[in-house]
Amino acid sequence: MAKPTDKQQQIIGMFDSIAKTYDTANKVVSFKQDHKWRKESVQEALRHVYAFRGDLQGLSVADIACGTADMLLCVLERIAACKGSVASVCGIDPSAEMLRLAEQKIAASPFNQNARIRLDCLEAKNLRTLADNSVDLLSIAYGLRNVVERKEALKEFTRVLKKGGVLLVLEFMRQDKKGILGYLAHIYTSKILPFVGMLVSWNYKAYAYLPKSIERFISADELEEELSDVGLEVVQKSHYMYKSVSGIFAVKL
Ligand SMILES: C[S@@+](CC[C@H](N)C(=O)[O-])C[C@H]1O[C@@H](n2cnc3c(N)ncnc32)[C@H](O)[C@@H]1O
Repeated sequence: MAKPTDKQQQIIGMFDSIAKTYDTANKVVSFKQDHKWRKESVQEALRHVYAFRGDLQGLSVADIACGTADMLLCVLERIAACKGSVASVCGIDPSAEMLRLAEQKIAASPFNQNARIRLDCLEAKNLRTLADNSVDLLSIAYGLRNVVERKEALKEFTRVLKKGGVLLVLEFMRQDKKGILGYLAHIYTSKILPFVGMLVSWNYKAYAYLPKSIERFISADELEEELSDVGLEVVQKSHYMYKSVSGIFAVKL
């Protein structure tokens, strides 16, 4: 069996290899729904940040497993839409290729204007560029499934969040009980999506990894337990695409 570090390096290498086609494949396989799920979940997360802070001014935000920066830019767009402001913004990902594309997209984005955005090439298990108790909103979209040493990462999330800071996990969670529509969504993600992803990226292995990684991943209830073990309390769970994708919102109390 591969050592956790070898397995992790293989996953990071896979993202390096699909970076160029990642955004297009994302839009195609989700029928452009990925942006809607990001927007809705970020909006909800900001509602929780507001409930704990009383305002959305001078926020410190970090997006982990930021990839090509879609989630990071969505967070900045939503904060601007709520007339909030940011004091610091950090995107973190261990794939140098994904970060290279993130840098280009951020440079071309209107939400880059006043924000000081830093990109760090790091894994979620070691967020050494973020200080203790420093982050108001920490997001991770479609990233946690790829983190081999998940418990270490969740401890890091708790360390860097301020008291009252909010964690948003947006992810394809394992579903044990699927209704008819959930089953159809499962057929789509396990059979059709890898094929479509392969057509866009010419990398079948990378897209065959997606359904396997979902089956091996934990359910939303199991994640809630793991978050509670590290001192984060789940305050909301939202589901998209017949529960295939979930938004988990947790607060550091
Ligand atoms: C499916 S992409 C998601 C990218 C982006 N968050 C989005 O919403 O489009 C998964 C990302 O997780 C990153 N990743 C893989 N292993 C990781 C780890 N151990 N820690 C943090 N990020 C990791 C990959 O490099 C990749 O950019």
